[in-house]
Amino acid sequence: MKRYLLLFVFLLIGQLVVAQDKQLPAPRTEGGMPLMEALKNRKSVREMSAKMLSDQQLADLLWAANGVNRPDGRRTAPSAMNCREIEIYVYTAGAVWLYQPEQNSLRHVLNGDFRAEAVMQDFAKEAPVLLVFVSNYEKMARMNEQQRSFFEATDVGYVSQNVYLYCTQEGLNTVVMAYIRQEDIKKRLGFNGRALLAQAVGYAK
Ligand SMILES: Cc1cc2nc3c(=O)[nH]c(=O)nc-3n(C[C@H](O)[C@H](O)[C@H](O)COP(=O)(O)O)c2cc1C
Repeated sequence: MKRYLLLFVFLLIGQLVVAQDKQLPAPRTEGGMPLMEALKNRKSVREMSAKMLSDQQLADLLWAANGVNRPDGRRTAPSAMNCREIEIYVYTAGAVWLYQPEQNSLRHVLNGDFRAEAVMQDFAKEAPVLLVFVSNYEKMARMNEQQRSFFEATDVGYVSQNVYLYCTQEGLNTVVMAYIRQEDIKKRLGFNGRALLAQAVGYAK
């Protein structure tokens, strides 16, 4: 009995350790490919290997996407009325995380592989990093539905393009997708907002 109790405590501790938030390394914000070269090479590529990105690449990718780039908390992507409503969920083979731009960290959301539940295309179900862009309606409380849908659709486009440019300069493949399971994503993650787009990121095969 004592042995089972001990095992249970170990499993519980293990679960707590796994469920901890993850501090990312400081993003590398210098250098990289010249912008004009990145624009020249930007493209969608629908094939990627299962090889996981490093924590440094993940930090750089997320910072490029929508990280804090000024002391007042403003971001690499513009947002209508400075709402900063676009949030980035990071789906991997083992868990789902939520990017915390102010802390440069990942908040643990769920353990498990939910990529196939979020997207429809096979290559994206196997992408080592699947970003899901969600608008947070708590941050758009003063807007009506028409404003919300215009602003969220516009704002998410900038974030996606930032991801494209980061991936181009890092030699990673990426594709943005509107063809996603919006309701299943929302049901699983339970946010007050809308799942707008997903973007698969990975090394070439
Ligand atoms: C809003 C938006 C939604 C898209 N949705 C999908 C999608 O669901 N699946 C997909 O494979 N590609 C999707 N794409 C990628 C486009 O098909 C792609 O950008 C287009 O073919 C041009 O190719 P390029 O990105 O290489 O220039 C989407 C692109 C945008 C901007």
